[in-house]
Amino acid sequence: MPHPSEIDLTVYPDECDAFGHLNQAAFLSLFERARWEMLVRGPGMDVFTRAGAWPAVRKTVIDYHAAAFPGDVLRFHQTLTHHGRTSFTMRQTARRIKDDVLIATAEFVFVCINRDGRPIEVPVEFGEFMHTRRASGGAQRLTVNGVSLAVEIRGDGPAILFVHGYPFDRTIWRAQIDTLDGHRRIAPDLRGMGESDAPDLGYGMTIYAHDLAALLDTLGVDDVILCGLSMGGYVLFEFLRRWRDRVRALILVDTRAEADGTEARRARDAAAAAARENGAQAIADAMLPKVLSPATLAHEPETAERIRRIMAATPVAGMIGALSAMRDRHDSTGLLPTLAGLPTLVIVGEDDTLTPPDGARRMASAIPGARLVVVPGAAHLPPVEQPTETTAAIRDFLRVVG
Ligand code: MLT
Repeated sequence: MPHPSEIDLTVYPDECDAFGHLNQAAFLSLFERARWEMLVRGPGMDVFTRAGAWPAVRKTVIDYHAAAFPGDVLRFHQTLTHHGRTSFTMRQTARRIKDDVLIATAEFVFVCINRDGRPIEVPVEFGEFMHTRRASGGAQRLTVNGVSLAVEIRGDGPAILFVHGYPFDRTIWRAQIDTLDGHRRIAPDLRGMGESDAPDLGYGMTIYAHDLAALLDTLGVDDVILCGLSMGGYVLFEFLRRWRDRVRALILVDTRAEADGTEARRARDAAAAAARENGAQAIADAMLPKVLSPATLAHEPETAERIRRIMAATPVAGMIGALSAMRDRHDSTGLLPTLAGLPTLVIVGEDDTLTPPDGARRMASAIPGARLVVVPGAAHLPPVEQPTETTAAIRDFLRVVG
């Protein structure tokens, strides 16, 4: 039985323009119809009026990815990405069922108001209903540090926490999660990305690190191997500053310890403005050629499309939050020599231009005893572009670490 937050709706001819494409106004009402249908199948269409509240739309962001035509059946998926006292944010996606093409993604910010137009609390029943949604692909949802995170947990043994970069999700670790037997693999979506909550505000490296510590507390893990890619590495540096005694070993993948310089900080603000104005799709299109190697782009269109989709599905609030967190992060170069005694593996894609091999070499030599593995045929995403080699490098390292 699909969860009631998945609603199938058919596109009618009168909703389409002269060229036969589903038009914008009709699209907006399909998104709305999907939300009401969901309530009909859940707590009831009157869940708000029962509580004397009305959900007033305050902001709408829609990214149109592909055209839909009369007769297409679209599957609308609704998730609550932020649940405040009087406001909430819903993220909706519409996919065509017959070919699973992502047609559009949307974010709606609501404020609950009473008859006088004053903010009133979000009905408890509505919040409870939305929080029963599941995450996809065998992941579970855990509420830690005030946010609901989608987390995949597999296997038994020493725990490894996999932390993805920006703007990705836990599935970049798919090959490692599937094959690193003998370890308890824990892969969350960071707040604001993937299927985790995406609050409008409240992002920072410290906050991400606290989310991870709270997640490990919830799972009863106090001795962990950390593995972070790019922004995931920045988060791990914050984690290490606070909870070094909980860390058994460290794997840094395509990341850097330096903070952003003036130019990079400016570029973060420009990217945030572009995300706000043009949506996640525009960011995804601009980033794709930078994160994958020429070989992956040329010979693995499915991998490229998978990565593009992950980026395009990232909530805009989460993108903007991550960009500000990266812009404001501390320099961690001083931390590197203090990691003496912590078994560390540094991995980098040979073609990475965002966090290039030279930087990875410098970082590895600043951490006493660290090993470096350069992965050929990969740019910024070795776990995805060269999954076998990357997993083998991690496995060899884990053999030594135990
Ligand atoms: C990432 O992959 O997390 C980003 O490329 C990191 C960054 O932009 O600094």
